[in-house]
Order: sequence, then C-alpha cells, then structure tokens
Amino acid sequence: MTVDPLIRSLEELQARALQELSASPSADSVERWRVAYLGRKGHLTLVLRGLGSLAPEERRAVGAAANRVKALLEESLARAEEAIKSAELHALAEQGRLDVTLPGRPVPLGRLHPTTQIVREICAAFVSMGFQVVEGPEVEWDRYNFEMLNIPKDHPARDMWDTFWIDRVDEHGERPMLLRTHTSPMQIRIMESTRPPVRVVVPGKCYRYEATDATHESQFYQVEGLAVDDGITFADMKGTLYEFARLLFGSERRVRFRCDYFPFVEPGAEMSIDCFACNGQGCRICKGTGWIEIMGAGMVNPRVLEGVGYDSSKYTGFAFGLGPERIAMLKHGIDDIRLFYSNDLRFLGQF
Ligand code: DAH
Repeated sequence: MTVDPLIRSLEELQARALQELSASPSADSVERWRVAYLGRKGHLTLVLRGLGSLAPEERRAVGAAANRVKALLEESLARAEEAIKSAELHALAEQGRLDVTLPGRPVPLGRLHPTTQIVREICAAFVSMGFQVVEGPEVEWDRYNFEMLNIPKDHPARDMWDTFWIDRVDEHGERPMLLRTHTSPMQIRIMESTRPPVRVVVPGKCYRYEATDATHESQFYQVEGLAVDDGITFADMKGTLYEFARLLFGSERRVRFRCDYFPFVEPGAEMSIDCFACNGQGCRICKGTGWIEIMGAGMVNPRVLEGVGYDSSKYTGFAFGLGPERIAMLKHGIDDIRLFYSNDLRFLGQF
C-alpha cells in the first residue's frame, strides 16, 4: 500500500483547518476550532491514533507528516488567540471605557494655619533686614516677664497684663512662675546670654487672664523684636519699622509714631500705618480715623540694659512687639480673633 493518499488527505485536512481558523472571528469560534482539530477526538488526533494500524515504514512517513501538520496548527492557533485578545483590548479602548483624557480626582491638600503663615511672613520681613529668629519658653519667671523689664512687684503697670499664675509658692509666699503675658521676657533671656550686637525677632504664644471677645483671646501670638548695639537711634527704629510696614502692607504705606508708655522702653511709642483699605480716607477697618495701630515700640530703657549687665552709656537699642493675629485680621478683613482657634475648616480652608 502506498502512503500517498494518506499524505494527501493530511494536506487537505491542513488546508481546511487553516481556512476555517482564518474565518473564526471570536474567542469562542477559535476554541470550537481547537476542539474540532486538536481536541481529544479532533480530526488530527484521530489520524495520529490511526497510525498504529499501519506498517512500520508507512507509519514513519505518515507520522512525520502528521506531526508537522500538528505543529503548524498549534502555532496558527496561538497566533489567532493573540490577535483576538489584542482586538478585544482595542475595542474596549474605542468604546471609551478607559478614557485616559479624563481629569484626575483632586487629592485634598493640607495647608499651613493662617497664624503660622502670618508669623512666618513677619519673621521673613525682619530676617531680610538681618534679624535672627529665636524662640523661648511659654512658662516664665516673674523675674523675666516683669521685674527685669522694669516692672517691680507693686508697680501699677502690672495691671496692663492680667496674668495666669502657676500655682506654686516660694519661701517668701510669692508665686514666681506664670504663663508669659508677652514675648518681651525673651529680651532679657537673649541679652543675658549674648553681648551686642543683638538683632532678633521672637515669635511665640502668650497668655492673658481675660474674658474673650471678638478682639481678645486668652491665648494669642506675639512677635517681639530687639536690636541693641553701639549707636542705635530712634531713627534706626523708625526706618526698620517703616520698611517692615512696606514689606507687609505695600510700598505706598505711610507710618505714624505717637507717644505711648511701656515700662521697658523710654521713650515708648505706638506705631500706626495709614489705612491700606481706604488709603487714609476713613473706613470700617480703620474705624474712620484713616490710621491703624499695628505695634508698640520704643528705645530700650537704660535700666533694662543695666539689669542684664550692658553698659548703657555705650549701648542703646530699640524693641517692639506686635500681634500677628491682629495683622492677619487687618490684611484679610477677619472680624473675630476667636476664629483662629476654633478649628473651623470653612475658615481655615480660605488661606
Ligand atoms: N510687650 C508689650 C505688650 O505685650 C508690647 C511691646 C511694647 C513690646 C513695646 C515691646 C515694646 O518690645 O518696645 O503689650
């Protein structure tokens, strides 16, 4: 028996299979094709099984041909499956189920508290003029908060600062500790530990035993400033604070100094800027006066300098103290200081 008819029918099988495969449009039809030709009872499998009934030399020739067909069909199958998979992905993208042009979902971002922002802005203005930033303790000694600032025990000026006292009594029956009522005690701490020249700003929290209202909090921030050197004058103070006002409130600002009293400065002053909202015409923010008071300042009292061991015939200096929340309120038109401590995200989210 010759093998030619068997080989020819294998060739026909191969041609038919490839033709059917190329006409299979889906994953389902390709799978049906696989079962029909290469499955356990598929056409080609049956041919291979039938080899056993052939004579040995026929078996070799037909077996080799059948294996070549099998390899070719398997290879074609893999290629067809691959093509269908990529066509499916393509169709999915076409349908727009995967729109890579959609805008992303916003990720909520935290931000700095408005007090932190204004404190940093104030400090940066003074740093640009050569000042250093220093911080100090909120629990303070009477000695630093009052006495060495020229406010002795029974001085009536103590009434300017309603004080939270720490409940601890010394051997004289006095309470020596308190929550600092201002940042001025840092003037003493800094001068005690350094020699002139001194140029520092001190941001920090302060406390007053007061009822709260729209313009008063029992807890608030201050920024203190101090410059001491050989030959510092009142004009240096005016120039420095004028530059500060321009940096924070704009280059057209004018400033005004008027006498004021603080025991640790002589002469003492309050500094105002012309109202940035109405340009000095008079409005709600400046309460019709055209001027807004922004800080207390003055030449460091010689008694304070002597108290820390500075020679007051050689050294002079100026000091100032301001309330950052008040500055932020003016800048942003905020009408209640209590908002800074209420943690209301609708308020905080605006800055
Ligand atoms: N410490 C003062 C207060 O809290 C503010 C102040 C005024 C500070 C004049 C100063 C200054 O350094 O020179 O009311």
